[in-house]
Amino acid sequence: MSVNQNQEQRKQVLDFMTSAHQTFSSDKGGANASYIPYLASVPSDLFGIAISFPDGQVLEVGDTKYEFAIESISKVFTLAKVLEEIGKDKFLATIGSDATGEPFNSVIALELHKEHPSNPFDNAGAIATVSLLNAKSADDRWNQIISTYSLFAGRDLTVNEEVYKSESDTNAHNRGISWLLKNSGKMFTDPDQACDVYTRQCSVAITCRDLAIMGGTIANHGVNPVTKKQVISRENVQPILAEMAMNGLYDNTGTWLYNTGLPGKSGVGGGILAIVPGVCALAVFAPPLDVFGNSVKGQKVGAFLSEKLGWSLL
Ligand code: DON
Repeated sequence: MSVNQNQEQRKQVLDFMTSAHQTFSSDKGGANASYIPYLASVPSDLFGIAISFPDGQVLEVGDTKYEFAIESISKVFTLAKVLEEIGKDKFLATIGSDATGEPFNSVIALELHKEHPSNPFDNAGAIATVSLLNAKSADDRWNQIISTYSLFAGRDLTVNEEVYKSESDTNAHNRGISWLLKNSGKMFTDPDQACDVYTRQCSVAITCRDLAIMGGTIANHGVNPVTKKQVISRENVQPILAEMAMNGLYDNTGTWLYNTGLPGKSGVGGGILAIVPGVCALAVFAPPLDVFGNSVKGQKVGAFLSEKLGWSLL
């Protein structure tokens, strides 16, 4: 494709992004997460859309520079790190890749499966995934995780300490899940350490632009499109996309997949990531959530752009 054709296509993408932003910015659906006090205080009308392409170009519309909590989208990148370390077969055998049909923090789902997690995105599986990392200490575990995230983003990411405190003060439920995992032999380090590192990873501050580049690394077969570094091996991209397609938006994943045809991942901070393998990654940030914990505007933008740009994989 010539440079001009390429630029013409990018302009078309930017036009659709702008149109999505205009169409959905007045949408009043959903509400900020309230169970973590910090998240309730984030301005609800923030709204950013970013798309990163394999050649390193990033298109941005709206509030793409505002730092928000990555929350559950972090689970994608910890999964990537653990896959690199133990390989996809061992990961599948230890954690799994099946939906529970229950909310992301369900204890009932755990109890129904002999206290075994079912996948790395529900909280039980996500905390177990953190515990799987081979680490000498809590600091070592954390450093491995944050340096992996930074490689995905192409810059040094840090924790928002206010979010971390707010989450730590209110994470008794997740600590309970960690100890249930210990009971079933699916906790591979000290349960409180795993839960604390998990809480920290959810509190990492990212912008919508960062999220697009992090996802762009997955879309670009493991190579960061901006830094050009191979962050994960190509063979670990498929299991990540499979987990996203199967459970990225929890018990609303089927509806998301129906509307977009794309693997996605949400976080209660208001971020949503969608991957178009080999083509681009879409990141949306808009705090109001549906009852499942997924950004309302993010889902609408995903469906709109997928349809307009013919992105669906299905
Ligand atoms: O475990 C929690 O409650 C949060 N720190 C993360 C949950 C989350 O983002 C679920 N996603 N939509």
